[in-house]
Amino acid sequence: MDALPHQPVLYKEIIHALQPRPGGRYVDGTLGAGGHARGIMEASAPDGRLLGLDVDPQALVLARKNLAPYEERTHLAQASYTSLSTQLAQLGWDTVDGILLDLGASSMQFDTPERGFSFQHDAQLDMRYGPHAPQTAADLVNKYSERELADLIYQYGEERDSRKIARAIVKARPIHTTRALVAVIESVSPRRGDRLHPATRTFQALRIAVNEELASIEEVLPQAVTALRSGGRLAVISFHSLEDRIVKDFFREQSKDLINPPYERIYEVERKATLKEVNRKPLTPSEDEIKNNPRARSAKLRIVEKI
Ligand SMILES: C[S@@+](CC[C@H](N)C(=O)[O-])C[C@H]1O[C@@H](n2cnc3c(N)ncnc32)[C@H](O)[C@@H]1O
Repeated sequence: MDALPHQPVLYKEIIHALQPRPGGRYVDGTLGAGGHARGIMEASAPDGRLLGLDVDPQALVLARKNLAPYEERTHLAQASYTSLSTQLAQLGWDTVDGILLDLGASSMQFDTPERGFSFQHDAQLDMRYGPHAPQTAADLVNKYSERELADLIYQYGEERDSRKIARAIVKARPIHTTRALVAVIESVSPRRGDRLHPATRTFQALRIAVNEELASIEEVLPQAVTALRSGGRLAVISFHSLEDRIVKDFFREQSKDLINPPYERIYEVERKATLKEVNRKPLTPSEDEIKNNPRARSAKLRIVEKI
């Protein structure tokens, strides 16, 4: 497949989890280059259908190319997965058989220096997955107060040096490029051997904030559960602990019967579990996959089935 340097992350596991079948309806909420989507189309031939979403117009160009052989069975749209319910209503799909969310940025986005995701290339501090995002990373870096920046870097980057870094950023402003930001971070949090690069966590934090990623995940999960038919499956790949925690907690919560929840104490309310966890522990890539694609290292796959 063009434009795919390696297999999509946990490819076989995703196809195995979603069990695409002829006549089924599937959603890929994070289409990227369409690698997983292509597998879904192959496995659901000759008449399985797919709704594919991505906020990034460049991803859609790649996905359209890679999914060209299945054009008649795919509906691709430049839209956020947070609009899942609306997108499904527009297609007239009441329920679907499987949904995939492969969260975060794609290799294409990381490897396109102008997008500003990588601290290894110099570029404008952008980091938006798509043009809809109201602010770029430069906007946050130059407009937020020192306190706001420190909190953001601490919460979304889990960076212990957040206060030092925020102080240095405010002192060095305006900062417009990735290289300038890296230099500021290195000035207070120097490189140590082959440990994680000191800019890694701050870049992660900015990316999450610019794209409102955690709120988006919280928004889409209940929509996904509603959209699934009974027995349908949702598979989510996350790449860092903050994303995974939201997914894990939601899946756990929805897999339990709740009797008389404390906030509805007056009523004897019983809420039945809506989901069944297919794997209690997340699936992770094999050593072989990590060797071929080091970015897969932190991937975690959680799968649930609608009851
Ligand atoms: C890890 S990549 C997906 C790769 C894809 N599974 C493949 O096989 O090529 C994640 C994609 O999700 C997209 N994305 C991020 N947030 C999104 C959102 N809220 N709605 C839709 N797409 C989003 C990104 O633009 C990126 O292209």
